Amino acid sequence: MIDSNTVLKLENDRLIRPRHIIGVDDFELEQIDQLFKLADDYKLKVQNKVDCRGDINPIDPAISFFEEPSTRTRFSFEMAAKRLGLAVLTTEAGKVFSSKAKGESIEDTAINLSGYSPSVVIGRFEHSGEARRAADQMGEVPLINGGDGKGEHPTQALLDAYTVQSILGSVGGQRYVLGGDLLNGRTVHSLVELSSRYEDNQYVFVSPEELKMPEEITDELKNKNIEFEHTTDVEEALNWADVVYWTRLQAERITNRNEKLEMIKKQKRFAIGLKQISSMKEHGILLHPLPRVMPGFVDSAGDTLEAEILPEVDNDSRARYFEQSQNGMYTRMALLRWALEPMYGHTGKYPPKN
Ligand code: NCD
Repeated sequence: MIDSNTVLKLENDRLIRPRHIIGVDDFELEQIDQLFKLADDYKLKVQNKVDCRGDINPIDPAISFFEEPSTRTRFSFEMAAKRLGLAVLTTEAGKVFSSKAKGESIEDTAINLSGYSPSVVIGRFEHSGEARRAADQMGEVPLINGGDGKGEHPTQALLDAYTVQSILGSVGGQRYVLGGDLLNGRTVHSLVELSSRYEDNQYVFVSPEELKMPEEITDELKNKNIEFEHTTDVEEALNWADVVYWTRLQAERITNRNEKLEMIKKQKRFAIGLKQISSMKEHGILLHPLPRVMPGFVDSAGDTLEAEILPEVDNDSRARYFEQSQNGMYTRMALLRWALEPMYGHTGKYPPKN
């Protein structure tokens, strides 16, 4: 069990926590280790119905501001906040229901929201880079990035890594296979950036040529001398993997309709059903940030999308995506406690001064 003293001691050892959580690089690995211990602690507490409201002493409400659709990130954060005793003010579809629809910039939105002195703002933004731009205007109010466009999704990567560690014992020393829309999906970018900081990982990327992992990410792997390869052979990759991380086609981010239809067609070859999952190793795990697309789903443009993980594999013991989603709440309780504690700690100020 980790208590607040342990966390404060870390600060005294100069492992000062980041004020804002914008990308996975905001954390030292040692801090992530502590964070995971705290998440373990919260998992136990929640499962045993322990009241966590005394863990921090929140005076100010949290703001949860989501410009893009969200089920897991928003609700797990809001559940986490409420479990810690925070009041939460929320808008979903901020793109439509906030003043963004009237032409307000993200900077102005951030200045105004932080001006009400919330304890924390949890934000999901339409374009990559907007989380950083918002944070730069928020003074002492911490911003947690719940996903910015095609950019980063640091809290998802943390819960993904936490899930890998909980099941396989370590984030390092694994063979990772990431598949689907590796170009437009932010979760895969953050997961590669985070997991590649651990020792002895290898990567295989499975996608159509047009949706390959961006070079800025693979260049970083090259610089670190980490092995990776691209393939279109799903079964061979699955057979090699310890961790399979599958993602949906980010159809809403492909603006050219013909391109989108072409990608839908290509993506069909990458679906995981009973045949594909049976090629995985016995100890292997199949993860997905969710949402996955259900078979036969017709989007708002009238196009039928393809499912990437068929419901028929849900009962396979290697399919761990729902457990992964639950881990999101425990990880986010730990993150919120981290984000808030310094402000309400012994100095009442961030960063803590001794
Ligand atoms: C993802 C996201 O929003 O980036 N979902 C999530 O946060 N769990 C994945 C996606 O939208 O495909």
